Amino acid sequence: MATKKSFLDLEKIESELLKYGVEDVDSEIGKIEKQIKSTLNSYKEKNKIAREQYKNAIPFSEIYDSIDKLNLPDWVQKKINSARIFGRSKQMIIFPDGEKYQINNPLNNLSGGDWLNFTTSVFSTFYTTKGKDSYAHKIRKIHPSPKPPQLMREIIEFFTKENEIIFDYFMGVGGSLLGAGLSKRKAIGIDLNEKFIKAYKNAAKEIGVDIFPTKCGDCLEILNNEKEMKSLLNNKKISLVLIDPPYANMMSKEKTGGDIVVYGNKATPFTNDERDFGNLNQTAFFDSLKQSVKLVLPYIKKHGYIVIFIKDLQPNKKELNLLHADIIKKINEIPNLNYKGLRIWADRSAKLFPYGYPFSFVANQIHQYILVFRKEK
Ligand SMILES: C[S@@+](CC[C@H](N)C(=O)[O-])C[C@H]1O[C@@H](n2cnc3c(N)ncnc32)[C@H](O)[C@@H]1O
Repeated sequence: MATKKSFLDLEKIESELLKYGVEDVDSEIGKIEKQIKSTLNSYKEKNKIAREQYKNAIPFSEIYDSIDKLNLPDWVQKKINSARIFGRSKQMIIFPDGEKYQINNPLNNLSGGDWLNFTTSVFSTFYTTKGKDSYAHKIRKIHPSPKPPQLMREIIEFFTKENEIIFDYFMGVGGSLLGAGLSKRKAIGIDLNEKFIKAYKNAAKEIGVDIFPTKCGDCLEILNNEKEMKSLLNNKKISLVLIDPPYANMMSKEKTGGDIVVYGNKATPFTNDERDFGNLNQTAFFDSLKQSVKLVLPYIKKHGYIVIFIKDLQPNKKELNLLHADIIKKINEIPNLNYKGLRIWADRSAKLFPYGYPFSFVANQIHQYILVFRKEK
């Protein structure tokens, strides 16, 4: 039994460690405590600087008569009485806990700290697939690769403000649309498969968020139909296109190696439709993806973003299969659109398989690329 004094629930941690056969429990707990203390120290340091800045700032009411025209987010409005204005531009609000908000931020409603956190290029998550925190995973799991709504929510909260529109034309069971519902945004979705759209609606009901307009059909056909697009968007502009396309014919190939354990040795296409991006060969896939982005561009607002999830395929003798790099190059050829950078999402809940064991290295790819493009004019 660990006896050291600690602010952690040691008994619980100890029993978890024992469950997984860890022998030196004390040493493991010591490592966890050290990590937490070092994180706390860095927060303490940051807070010291912020408290100093707050002391030197001017009360909000001395600079601004009212908040009416400032379009401040709810979280700022709620604590406006303790707000002060910091810096020469008079645009920076600072709170006693050091939290900051820039009044002329046209992109999102985030505090400075949350903005900074989001910009880390690598991050990992472990989202549960059980209970309330799974966001109706038991309904969404009819899809082979549903995106966690919590993850989509974070992306949406960075690239949009409340009530703005998110568009996902590969919506599946609605990771993006549910993320939009969780963050008081609006969304529109398209998918070829009616079954997935139905599951999205059931999941939204179960979670208790808005059910957004959806359309069943081929995204290229719909994006090409101006009348249909205008009616879907109600003549409004999109702030964020958030898509997670199928990767060339990855799903429609017969499985090999460790994938057999996960999927069986059968091909698992999203649909049997020849318009399904998951059933295209790689060249056709790149061309169709580029075409879809070209078609959606006129419906996006100036400085709106396109965010694309993509995973590389395993390299083979003929191809490096760095899909993310190929897509960046291809999409960046589109005029009035610029590649802005990427984030790498590691899904710690992904199962590991001994693919090349014991002969050669084969990576367990638990990460996906989140590619970010911006419409310039
Ligand atoms: C990787 S999944 C997206 C999963 C989604 N992010 C979620 O949270 O469930 C890709 C989806 O694209 C759909 N799809 C493939 N080709 C399409 C096309 N031409 N038009 C519309 N949807 C398509 C598939 O049916 C599949 O559900």
